[in-house]
Amino acid sequence: MEKTTLIGPFKQIIPMTGLPLKGAIKDSELQIIPDGGILIKDSVIVAIGNFQNLQAEINPEETILLKGNHVCVPGFIDAHTHICFGGSRAKDYAMRNAGKTYLEIAHSGGGIWDTVTQTRMATQEELTKNTIKRANRHLKNGTTTIEVKSGYGLTVEEELKMLRAIKNANCSTLPDLIPTCLAAHMLPKDFLGTETAYLAEIAEGLFPILKAEKLANRIDAFIEESAFSSKDIKAYFEKATKMGFDITVHADQFTPGGSKVAVDHNAVSADHLEASTENEVVLLANSTTIAVALPGASIGLGCDFTPARKLLDAGGSLAIASDHNPGSAPMGDLLTQASILGTFQKLTNAEVLAGITYRAAAALNLSDRGKLAEGLLADFGVFHSDNYQDILYNQGNLKPCMVWKDGNLVYDKHK
Ligand code: NIG
Ligand code: FE
Repeated sequence: MEKTTLIGPFKQIIPMTGLPLKGAIKDSELQIIPDGGILIKDSVIVAIGNFQNLQAEINPEETILLKGNHVCVPGFIDAHTHICFGGSRAKDYAMRNAGKTYLEIAHSGGGIWDTVTQTRMATQEELTKNTIKRANRHLKNGTTTIEVKSGYGLTVEEELKMLRAIKNANCSTLPDLIPTCLAAHMLPKDFLGTETAYLAEIAEGLFPILKAEKLANRIDAFIEESAFSSKDIKAYFEKATKMGFDITVHADQFTPGGSKVAVDHNAVSADHLEASTENEVVLLANSTTIAVALPGASIGLGCDFTPARKLLDAGGSLAIASDHNPGSAPMGDLLTQASILGTFQKLTNAEVLAGITYRAAAALNLSDRGKLAEGLLADFGVFHSDNYQDILYNQGNLKPCMVWKDGNLVYDKHK
């Protein structure tokens, strides 16, 4: 049995508890524990409260005393990334800034297809190595759970290579990697058949192996004029649902339509939504599907932000993720992007923090993280400050000085 460890005192702990899953949140609703302590045992939190009281009442076997001012928040959860890939798309970025659009580049054979070509050339081991490197960088920025999509393989074998690489990376990285199968990213240019035929082949050939090898519990699709339509995807999503997979959708990125597909198929999340109109906002707000804003894609492509304010005011639930990928979102810095979305969309600190903690956990259907409370995973980030507002105020430039994952100190800036 591991010993109990008390960590603190923190000037402020922001546990993100007692807040709603849906709708707007005022900063005054945020609970702040002053002079707080966190008691952990094994990988979970066993108590949280006033440091001195915990010390007196519990008499922990070990105490880690912090000197100076520290603020503690739940480990960030990045609910949408594509960090398993080969190669680079620096030339796409240059071409876009010189006037070509994302879709023009895609139509001329670049874009996602370019990364598919480069990812197919990489070995599984190389993909594992790349994924570990990127995941460890995210960890230092306070992200303790990272969703990672396939979708640059686009054959049964190549998708398996990606998902096995992600599974192996998960064994060697400190953050938890949550895999998602995105074989429905685009119709591969070398597939001789229709969208429906491709999806049928993937569902039949890949889905059972995902279950057997425990490679992914989540199925994603890109619903867009350049990718798949609601008609194409119906049977695919129905089969996935029948087999017990969670559904998630790349929705309304350039044209509206995907969020309706997400809601119709009871998706856990609808991600992107840059092109969502009033109709889609209302549809999502009245559903159980979490809206996921991807400000990194707006910054990467130079396009509109997701209407996050409208989604929250309509009563929707909003998570914020980095979409870290080689094409549309090469930056991969969740905290910076979430802060920027907050300034452009007028989101409160509470709404932004909710979007990268417990609402992001809900987008991944995870109930064991995203808040700091008894029984939940001891995943948290610590910032040198006496005021939690500094975290977003610094727009990503204030990095955590410590990160704890599963009750272990996995990053310490001073070491
Ligand atoms: O989330 N929209 C489609 N998929 C990714 C981009 C992938 C890429 O461009 O490589 C996205 O933005
Ligand atoms: Fe994406």
